[in-house]
Parts: sequence; C-alpha cells; structure tokens
Amino acid sequence: MTAAERERAARYHFQEDRKRYTAGRSTLRRLLAQSTGIAPSELVILEAEWTKPRLELPPDIPSIFFNVSHSGDFVLLAVSDTVEVGVDIEQVRADCPITDLARRYYSPAEFQYLETLPSDQRLRDFYRFWTIKEAVLKCAGLGLSVPPHVVDIRLKEDGIPELHCLDGNRMFLAQISVRELAVAEGYASALALKTQDKISINLA
Ligand SMILES: CC(C)(COP(=O)(O)OP(=O)(O)OC[C@H]1O[C@@H](n2cnc3c(N)ncnc32)[C@H](O)[C@@H]1OP(=O)(O)O)[C@@H](O)C(=O)NCCC(=O)NCCS
Repeated sequence: MTAAERERAARYHFQEDRKRYTAGRSTLRRLLAQSTGIAPSELVILEAEWTKPRLELPPDIPSIFFNVSHSGDFVLLAVSDTVEVGVDIEQVRADCPITDLARRYYSPAEFQYLETLPSDQRLRDFYRFWTIKEAVLKCAGLGLSVPPHVVDIRLKEDGIPELHCLDGNRMFLAQISVRELAVAEGYASALALKTQDKISINLA
C-alpha cells in the first residue's frame, strides 16, 4: 500500500474497519497488478471524496475497471478489463428498521411489494434490493448522491431482478445489468455491469 493508504488505515478508530480496509486495498492492488503487469505499490489509484476510485494507467496499457464494497467479515472486489463495474455487499441484520428505510428510500412499487411479504422474505428482499441499487449507482460512479428509489427494481416471475429508472435524466441507469452473488450465508451482494452483453464472471 502507499503511505497515504497506510495513513488512512491508521486513522480508523475500530480495528475491524482497519483490517477490512487493509485487506481490501492490498488485495485490490495485487489483483490490479496481475491485470496490468505493474507492481502493486506502483499502481496509481486516483481517489477524491464522493467519487469512484479509478486506476490511472500509462497510455499503452488498456483500461481496467474496479469497484469495492465492505461489510461485516467481507470485502467484495470486482475487477474488469471490459466494462465499468459496481459492487455492494451488506450483512443482513434482523434488527435493521427495514420498513422505515424502505418507506424513505425505495420506490412506492418496491415498498408495496415488500409489504406483501412474510417477514423473513421481506428482510431478504429488502437487502437484495438495497445491494442491487447501490451496485448500480456505484457502477455509474454516482454512489448515494442519487436517491436510491431512482433505481426501481421489479422481480420477474422467475425471481430475476429487472431494472427501471424513475429519473428521466438518468435513463442510462436502466441500461446497467445486475447479477446477484451468493457470497456467504447472512449476506446479500450484487454486481452491476455497464453493459447488456453477456459477460463471463470468475468468482474467486
Ligand atoms: C460510495 C458509497 C455508495 C459507499 O457506500 P458504503 O455502503 O458506505 O460502502 P461500501 O463499502 O459499499 O463502498 C465503499 C467503496 O466504494 C467506493 N466508492 C467511493 N465513492 C464511490 C462512487 N462515487 N462510486 C462508486 N464507488 C465509490 C470506494 O472504493 C469505497 O471503498 P474504499 O474507500 O475502501 O476504496 C457512499 O459512501 C456514497 O455514495 N458516497 C458518495 C455520495 C454521497 O454520499 N454524497 C453525500 C454528499 S452529496
């Protein structure tokens, strides 16, 4: 890691946050090094508050896209040499005030759908929707600067999520595709890709 990254790690108040950040950032550097042939410590990751971190590469090296999410015991990293990516992982917490959050941050249709579900399924789908929304907004580099209800999720008959966009100025969000990932028991997670093409994914 760079000196700035080590300083950031040292600033975390809780040891578990420090460990998660350090594990995530050092693994990210290792993966990006494999993809680019540049030594991990020499990779330039450009970061600014509220913006999506990105890799600055010499002009002769093709672009590499990545995104990161942390929750509980996990760091989820996506690296792509093809398209922009976004990821989100969330530890499912039964004490989360999902009804209040869904009323505030979800579309009316999503809220109504969740209200029809028994409580265990409501908790599961609340988190599915949250991780999908966040992965899509992170893929677009917007993060939570955009209200999450703008990404409106409908589940098709086969349970596969379908994206709609409720903001006429951001219809590009509906062109992002999503895949839900089964990372671990007790976690919801999603990967968003800035394409509608079928792209093969290696999960490791
Ligand atoms: C990015 C954001 C969605 C993170 O959400 P989170 O659930 O707390 O955290 P996650 O672990 O899932 O993701 C964090 C990672 O997202 C990445 N990230 C940061 N900003 C991002 C953005 N705009 N787009 C995509 N990814 C972003 C970073 O890599 C970060 O990890 P790192 O700092 O260790 O490298 C959220 O903090 C955000 O949207 N911030 C910017 C918008 C905002 O809140 N503005 C308020 C003022 S308008």
